[in-house]
Amino acid sequence: MRKKVILITGASGEIGQALVQSLCEQNELPIITLDIAPVSEAAHPNVLHMQGDILDKALLSRLVSEYEVDTIFHLAALLSTRAEFTPEAAHRVNVEGTLGLLQMAAEQSDWRGNPVKFIFPSSIAAYGLPDLETKTQYTRVREWEWNNPRTMYGCNKLYCEQLGIYYSQYYRQLAADRPVMLDFRCLRFPGLISAYTVPSGGTSDYGPEMLHAAAQNKPYGSFVREDCRIPFMAMPDAVKSLLHLTAAPRENLRHSVYNVTSFSLSAIEFRDWVLKYFPEGQITFQPDEKRQAIVDSWPADLDDSAAQRDWGWSPDYNLERSFGEYLVPNIRRRYQG
Ligand SMILES: NC(=O)c1ccc[n+]([C@@H]2O[C@H](COP(=O)([O-])OP(=O)(O)OC[C@H]3O[C@@H](n4cnc5c(N)ncnc54)[C@H](O)[C@@H]3O)[C@@H](O)[C@H]2O)c1
Repeated sequence: MRKKVILITGASGEIGQALVQSLCEQNELPIITLDIAPVSEAAHPNVLHMQGDILDKALLSRLVSEYEVDTIFHLAALLSTRAEFTPEAAHRVNVEGTLGLLQMAAEQSDWRGNPVKFIFPSSIAAYGLPDLETKTQYTRVREWEWNNPRTMYGCNKLYCEQLGIYYSQYYRQLAADRPVMLDFRCLRFPGLISAYTVPSGGTSDYGPEMLHAAAQNKPYGSFVREDCRIPFMAMPDAVKSLLHLTAAPRENLRHSVYNVTSFSLSAIEFRDWVLKYFPEGQITFQPDEKRQAIVDSWPADLDDSAAQRDWGWSPDYNLERSFGEYLVPNIRRRYQG
């Protein structure tokens, strides 16, 4: 008998570290983490780390020969800014890597006669508003609106959402017998802010970078303009949304892809919140025209009413609580001892 496990790809990243910690606290199934990077946290008895590439087919075959994968949190990806520098490599990791895992999950679902849950984090980068006028007019964007991404990362995310829907609804639609198909569930995240990790390679990183720089008394130059506005969410809510969507009864889910968010801030409002707690912070605005254009195409806010209605989504941390109760106290402890 194979041991039933949860698989988390990209587990050494920002979300992965927080998710592994939460799942360990719940003490559910044993966890296999798969990441090209080593794990940064101390080993937990419930977690086995496999250091390797999601594109390594032999590694995935070895994994399913030993374990019955029950749920996959597929977090491994090359993020938006990094992906623009190496678009073809991003396509390999973000699309081919996801396709390989979906294929594995599809085969395993049929093999065991029970859907494998496939949880996929997408992003506001899946949206692409054509200009600032439209962005100002259409603030709270719904899932099916403005699906015209302008980055390789955004294209990858949008297409992988469609692949997930295909594998969960239409896979082998011409075969004599309908297979047991995987159970695909996807969240479109806003920019995420963690108190414990500093992001790298994303295009919403200016928010968390301001905060972490000010807490360390380091000067910071924001790569976007003062008026640039996007939605954000604190990391505990990102983890909460992943776990709640995973636990939601299938029959309640009317969609495969859900927006989730907490608060929307312009870059200058973000700076003012940082300065409220770190008044010595030296934050200036030195917009990078090209990265700015990417953020300008992202929505100012997300409409997450479908998630609220179908699986009771609501963030624990609004703007005030995010700064006052989660980010600032933990960041202070981290840098100021
Ligand atoms: N952080 C955000 O603000 C945000 C917002 C929206 C969506 N997301 C999505 O959430 C997921 C996790 O994001 P994150 O912020 O933790 O990113 P991250 O960059 O911190 O982590 C990604 C992890 O994937 C791993 N990885 C990359 N290529 C790999 C490969 N070929 N094989 C195995 N592992 C590989 C990296 O080593 C890294 O540990 C990603 O899919 C990202 O697109 C993140």
